[in-house]
Amino acid sequence: MNKDILRMLMDSKNEYVSGQYISGKLGITRAAIWKRMNKLKELGFEIDSVTKKGYKLISYPDIMNKDLIEAGLDNDLLTKHIIVLDDVDSTNDYSKKIAKNMPDGSIVIADEQLSGKGRRGRSFYSGKGEGIYLSFILKPDLEPSKAPFLTSIAAAALIKALKDLDVDVKVKWPNDIIINSKKMCGILTEMTADVESIEYIILGIGINVKGTSFPDEIKDVATSLKIEGYEIKRLDLLWKLITHFEILYRDFVNGKTTEILDILKENSCVLGKDITVYYSDRNEKAKAIDINDEGALVVQLENNIVQTLNSGEISIR
Ligand code: BTN
Repeated sequence: MNKDILRMLMDSKNEYVSGQYISGKLGITRAAIWKRMNKLKELGFEIDSVTKKGYKLISYPDIMNKDLIEAGLDNDLLTKHIIVLDDVDSTNDYSKKIAKNMPDGSIVIADEQLSGKGRRGRSFYSGKGEGIYLSFILKPDLEPSKAPFLTSIAAAALIKALKDLDVDVKVKWPNDIIINSKKMCGILTEMTADVESIEYIILGIGINVKGTSFPDEIKDVATSLKIEGYEIKRLDLLWKLITHFEILYRDFVNGKTTEILDILKENSCVLGKDITVYYSDRNEKAKAIDINDEGALVVQLENNIVQTLNSGEISIR
């Protein structure tokens, strides 16, 4: 595929792009352009070609392809390095292996994960072509204690991306995105750091987009956009997610967190609810009363003691 041709077709929004224009920009013959257009059609692109007018993109296939993903993103985005894989054990594990040599904001995306990971040793179902499975490799110059906030940024970015596509979702603090009380997205943030500084953070996001069934163990608690009635292309959501994430991530690095916190509070399905907090050695009943400026959940325990949870596991009672 060819990122430049795709970008021209996508930027021209419903207009024809002439062979002469493409040929002038890319320095290739019209015959070569014709060949490339045919290749794109074989891959599932619908391209209208009219003599003397040129080429018009009618639709693109929902495939995880590096050129296509990059062509749909703004050039000036932080992300310059995108790795796209057909399959991988886990994009988080793959990212960890390469993180040292990758710049801040790199992304690893896979069409399928063979052993997708969830939090607390759980697995994350990642059927081929059914979802978005991606990891950001991030190297912010921050104290390690600030790392949990990245989960909040991912959640806020996804909410914005879905709102753009007219999908309303809720966040179950800290890392699940919920529709109709079922989980359609999970976030797994993993950090490598020393006492004072972060070496890198791998921020993994798994979104159930097009799946229509789930393994027995999770079928009562998991859902997908498709199951909920939303016919959305993975690419349309992916482009918006990456774009919103990068803007909010830059805001955060520059000390601006108001928008992120507002989104989390406005779309929380936890605030005001009676919950159970799972500690490593016990469970406690509590009420979720606020999300503080660090993105931590403020809860009031049954004995009225107020506690702040930076990360952890809760359930709504
Ligand atoms: C959870 O629900 O507990 C977190 C799920 C996180 C899943 C994503 S999919 C992309 C990235 N790679 C993984 O192996 N896990 C995360």
